[in-house]
Amino acid sequence: MKKIKRVILNGEEETIKFASDFARKITEKNKKRKTALVISLIGELGAGKTTFARGFLHELGVKKKITSPTFVLIKRYKLSRNKNFKEAFHIDAYRLKDGDLNTLEWQEIIKNPENIILIEWPERVREAKIKGAVEIKIKHLKEGREIEIND
Ligand SMILES: Nc1ncnc2c1ncn2[C@@H]1O[C@H](COP(=O)(O)OP(=O)(O)OP(=O)(O)O)[C@@H](O)[C@H]1O
Ligand SMILES: [Mg+2]
Repeated sequence: MKKIKRVILNGEEETIKFASDFARKITEKNKKRKTALVISLIGELGAGKTTFARGFLHELGVKKKITSPTFVLIKRYKLSRNKNFKEAFHIDAYRLKDGDLNTLEWQEIIKNPENIILIEWPERVREAKIKGAVEIKIKHLKEGREIEIND
């Protein structure tokens, strides 16, 4: 059953730490899946979605620097350190519109239970709204952020 949790994170380092702990838990919890694990990162400009993706992916063994996938549609990473998931895909749909992701490649990616998809701005693109996606909502506070997790 889905539960909603809320956490306050003060500063970038706390977001990264939270995302890496979350990566361990969510991959363990989702080891028996029939389709890709989709993590929707929801929050306004500068909320910390890419920061979260950075902590999450590094924890799963990605050594490369994680930058915002603004100018490529989909960034693809091999997951060397996780036994349940083999590849991760990081998408920023901010500049996309309905249909832009709807390729054969996208259909293959979301079908494969060894894939994890992290998507910023999923609300922009109809085909990025995946049933059963885990939702991470990040809100600005005066200082820091509030994160709401629906997993
Ligand atoms: N918990 C936090 N408290 C304060 N600042 C934070 C926190 N988490 C991240 N930040 C800062 O917020 C800024 C924006 O982060 P980031 O680029 O990850 O946002 P984003 O949601 O991906 O933005 P965009 O919508 O432009 O893609 C960065 O400077 C980062 O250091
Ligand atoms: Mg971003």
